[in-house]
Amino acid sequence: MPESQWSAAVVGPGGVGGLLGAVLARAGHPVVYVAKPDTAAALNSSGLTVRSVQFGDLHVPARAVPRLAGPVDMCLVAVKSTSLDEALDSVPAEALGDGLVIPLLNGVEHMTALRARFPVAQVVAGAIRVESTRVGAGRISHTSPFSWIEVASDTAPRERVDALAAQLHQAGLDVTVRDDETALLWEKLTLLAPLALLTTHASAPLGFVRDQRRADLEAVTGEVCAVAAAAGARVDPATILGMLDGVPASMKSSMQRDAEANRSTELDAIGGAVLRAARRHGIDAPVTARLVNELRTRSTSGTGLSTLGRSAE
Ligand SMILES: NC(=O)c1ccc[n+]([C@@H]2O[C@H](COP(=O)([O-])OP(=O)(O)OC[C@H]3O[C@@H](n4cnc5c(N)ncnc54)[C@H](OP(=O)(O)O)[C@@H]3O)[C@@H](O)[C@H]2O)c1
Repeated sequence: MPESQWSAAVVGPGGVGGLLGAVLARAGHPVVYVAKPDTAAALNSSGLTVRSVQFGDLHVPARAVPRLAGPVDMCLVAVKSTSLDEALDSVPAEALGDGLVIPLLNGVEHMTALRARFPVAQVVAGAIRVESTRVGAGRISHTSPFSWIEVASDTAPRERVDALAAQLHQAGLDVTVRDDETALLWEKLTLLAPLALLTTHASAPLGFVRDQRRADLEAVTGEVCAVAAAAGARVDPATILGMLDGVPASMKSSMQRDAEANRSTELDAIGGAVLRAARRHGIDAPVTARLVNELRTRSTSGTGLSTLGRSAE
């Protein structure tokens, strides 16, 4: 049982950050949100409201700031990859003090960005499996009956990671501490990349992809698993395909939802990162490359995807 409750900053009070902030606040943790001005104003005046299949309806007061000004024990980073650099400009390392920084973004490359800004002994990789959506400023809809968090760090002391997990667990969150940060991040990406790239490319839910784009689905899964293995994470493609076959046919990816809404997507952090790692390790990933490049082309021609950031070759 943790001795005292850690204070928390949540950078990006959206689907993931809003949910976690509300759950921590409900448990009594002091939480400050680092948010954009309009969202900060909404949070400060009306608090945070979460409708959750797992936690019930939560309404908590919320204190939001445009820039972190004082130290916290843990800083959860829950912006999309396309906003990461700008958001981190609002979290000066000297203001954070010696608190842990836990990104919950999908992808793998954000760890390098975080370790460039914060002392490496304070940076802990995180991954969350959840379906939670920002429906408005300070209003979150958590539709999955679970929210599974995994944490691991190659650079932070294990006892601090264990203490972090104890804090999150005591607040009511399902948390697992893993030994291997690389495995944690790549296992998530091997499931997400085929799902996101194919559903977005097909502009259709996973059931359609399984039926009509089976060869591409199997090829991308195989390629991403080969890259993961070269990066140091052994993931069985058959296991990933089994998971993709086991979810409801109506499932969409958040990349697809973002593309449909003409919002920025995480294509570069997901598909681009796989291709950059493939190139580094000398792995061929032709089907993944074709999909990523076609999605990038669509974005630049304005047909379905918006800003994608860096080149993905
Ligand atoms: N949502 C899920 O179910 C889910 C599941 C697993 C993993 N993930 C991953 O978690 C990460 C976050 O996803 P999400 O769905 O929670 O995104 P989201 O709902 O779009 O929330 C992102 C939040 O970041 C805020 N933000 C953007 N720029 C900012 C800045 N410069 N300063 C401060 N705040 C800023 C946004 O502010 P505004 O509210 O003002 O727009 C928004 O509240 C992504 O990498 C995603 O892939 C999400």
